[in-house]
This record gives sequence, structure tokens and C-alpha cells, in this order.
Amino acid sequence: MKILGIDTSCDDTSAAVIEGSSTILSNIVSSQTDIHKKYGGIVPELASRMHMEMISHVVKEALDQAQADLSLIDAIAVCKGPGLIGSLLVGCGFAKSLGYAAGIPVVGVNHLEGHIFAPFLESEPEFPFISLIASGGHTSLYQVNSFGNYEELGRTRDDAAGEAYDKIAKMMGLGYPGGPVIDRLAAEGDSRAFNFPRAYVPESFDFSFSGLKTSVRRMLQTIVPDGDTRKIPERTMRDLAASFQASVVDVLVRKVEWVIAKRGIGRVVLTGGVSANNELRKRMQLMADERNAKLWLPSLKLCTDNAAMIAAAGYHHFMAGDIAGLDLNPKAYLPL
Ligand code: KG4
Ligand code: ZN
Repeated sequence: MKILGIDTSCDDTSAAVIEGSSTILSNIVSSQTDIHKKYGGIVPELASRMHMEMISHVVKEALDQAQADLSLIDAIAVCKGPGLIGSLLVGCGFAKSLGYAAGIPVVGVNHLEGHIFAPFLESEPEFPFISLIASGGHTSLYQVNSFGNYEELGRTRDDAAGEAYDKIAKMMGLGYPGGPVIDRLAAEGDSRAFNFPRAYVPESFDFSFSGLKTSVRRMLQTIVPDGDTRKIPERTMRDLAASFQASVVDVLVRKVEWVIAKRGIGRVVLTGGVSANNELRKRMQLMADERNAKLWLPSLKLCTDNAAMIAAAGYHHFMAGDIAGLDLNPKAYLPL
């Protein structure tokens, strides 16, 4: 069985073909980073226009690379939210038209469910497990009991972890997206140089990153009162990046550690763009080893947005007979 996956939830146009529940035959991601870079963040209107331009090419490339034509595709799995509504509409409209014209059933997949199922494309996490989804739009903790059975344990009360990386990078004049560049700078910085706050949100598995953002902003105002971040010495930039990153990583690792202790579940899966972070991967692994917990860290390409993860979750919907009608309508806000 072959599933064609499509994801246009944010700023990347992606299409993939998987065989069965988990064998990737192709996973094409067309990045729009260069377009949004000059604005310091994603411009939703531009994102939808680029999806319109790219979607048919990306789907064709995914089919070609998988050496599959439409007659071999059993189902189309498309991301139906959450995300940017203009972007989601492009993917859903395309999937429905293609499905209708070619007589292929379409299934709608929640983007977060896609992230949760990304690790299954490389390994087989055992249920129940704890899933930390840390991306540009989300920072949430779920207990995953089985396919379709998800218990939300906590979520961010303000910014997502990736959003904090992106905003801090913008303030520091480092461009977009912020995660990879801060990750790189931080590797050579002193994480104790600046003492930024860690918001642990007591008695809860929720997160909060807006206080940290404000604290970094104030520090930058002290270092360069005129706001010209080009004057900041290289060494200070690295220390700022490392200290900021330490705050984010400390909180994410500590929260997962609490969940393991409270829930008595020693299996953890990291997913979402921030899971590509080197320091987070290292520190989470150390914590898991100390606690005798098993940790699944997807490869970097499966951490960030991709359509193979949508196809992986879509496979289960298809097997359960959960087929979407032509009235499938994406939603910007769509809880799991
Ligand atoms: O999962 P994703 O590709 O898209 C969303 O669903 O949001 O995540 C993108 C986010 C961005 O905020 C980006 O800055 C962050 O993931 N990111 C990272 C790293 N690579 C990407 N954050 C920290 N360290 C990284 N290496
Ligand atoms: Zn995502």
C-alpha cells in the first residue's frame, strides 16, 4: 500500500510517498526560507502564494522519486491544521481535487499527529510514550497511549520554543529562522555568562517562554542602548546565544523529567523543529540515561516539517476507514 502525503501548514511545501505504515519512498520539502528571510519571519500571504506555485511540482517530484504514478497510490493524506489558514487551504484544495479526479480517497491529518508519528518512520516506539512536540508553532507534551489516543499533559501558555528562538534571533540581528543559527553560535559560547530566567510554571506541565524573551530584550538594550546589534562583540553574541539556549533546554529537559517521574512512563519521543537542536538532544539523552528511560530522537529531516510524517499518521486513519469528504475544510486552530 502506498500513501501520498501533503503538508502545506506553514512555510514549506512538502509531499512524500510512503509504503505501508513507515517506509519512506520519497520525502520532498521545498523551503521558502529565502523568501521570508528578508522580512525576519513568515509572511502568510507570500507563503500561500508560494505553495500555489510549488505544490504540483513538489507532488510530481515525490511521485517520480518514489517511482509511483497516481494509479499506484491508495490514499492521499493531507494536513488539515493547525497552521496558517491560507497555506493549509492550498494543500487541502489540491489534495481534494487530485483525489476526486483520480478516484483516490483522501484523509485529513492533524499536523501535531504527524509530528507524533514522525519517529515511526525510522523506529518503533512502544506505547504508551511521552511525546514532546517543540516547534515554531507548538510546545506541547502528550501521553500517547495508542494511535488516536492522546492525552495532552501541558502546552505553552504564550510563545512556542521555536518562536522564542526565532524572535531572539531577530532581536540579535541573526535573521530567520533563528533555531539553527543560535544552535551554532551557542556551541561556542558560555551558557553561564548571562543568567536568564527559567519559567517552570509550578504544579503544571505547561511552558512559558515570553518572560525569557523579555529578559533577553532588556539585556540587549543594556548592551547596545541604540539597538545596533552589529556593535555587539562576537564573543558576547555567542554567550548570549548559549545562555538563552540553556534556559530553553533546562526547562524542556526538566519538564520531561517530571513527566517521566509523575506518570511512571520511561519512554520519550522528541519531535518538532526544535528537536533538531544539538544541546537539547544531548541533554535529553543524558537525563534519559540517568533515569533509565528510553529516548527516541528522529533524524533532523523528520524533526522539521515534512509530508512523510503526515502520510505516516494518514496510514492509520486510512486503515480505520476515516476517509474525508469533499467538505474537508482546514482549520488554523485545531486541537489534537
Ligand atoms: O516543526 P517545524 O519545522 O515547523 C513548525 O511546525 O513550526 O519547526 C520550525 C522551528 C523554527 O522555529 C526553527 O527556528 C526551529 O524549529 N528550529 C530549531 C532548530 N532547527 C529548527 N530550534 C532550535 N535549534 C535548532 N537546531
Ligand atoms: Zn510542525
